[in-house]
Amino acid sequence: MRVRFVSADGDSVREVEATTGDRLLEVAQADGQPLEGTCEGQMACSTCHVIVDPADFDKLPAASADEDDLLDLAAHVTRTSRLSCQIWLQEDWGSLTVRVPAEARDMQGR
Ligand code: FES
Repeated sequence: MRVRFVSADGDSVREVEATTGDRLLEVAQADGQPLEGTCEGQMACSTCHVIVDPADFDKLPAASADEDDLLDLAAHVTRTSRLSCQIWLQEDWGSLTVRVPAEARDMQGR
C-alpha cells in the first residue's frame, strides 16, 4: 500500500510503498522522515507524533487512552493527531496520508 508523507509546510510530499502490518513509525524512519521516535514505540515520548489526513483518519482504529494521554503532551496536536508508533498499516486502507509536524524537524531546518 501507499503511504504519503507531507512536510510540515505542505510543500513536499513523499510517496512510499509499504507493506501491510508495517508500523508507520518505521516506514517513516526508513524514508528519512524526521520523526525521532525516542522511546522506540514504548509510548513514553511523543516524538513520533503525526497528523493524519482527515480523509484517512476514520480508517484507523481508535487511539488507546494511553495514546490519547501522550498526545495531550505533544505540541501542535490536532483532532487527527496520532502516534505513528501505534499505527500498523492495514490492507483495506488502500493508502494513508500523514503530515509530519513542524516540531519534528531536524536541526538543519529541512
Ligand atoms: Fe515514543 Fe511513539 S515512539 S510514543
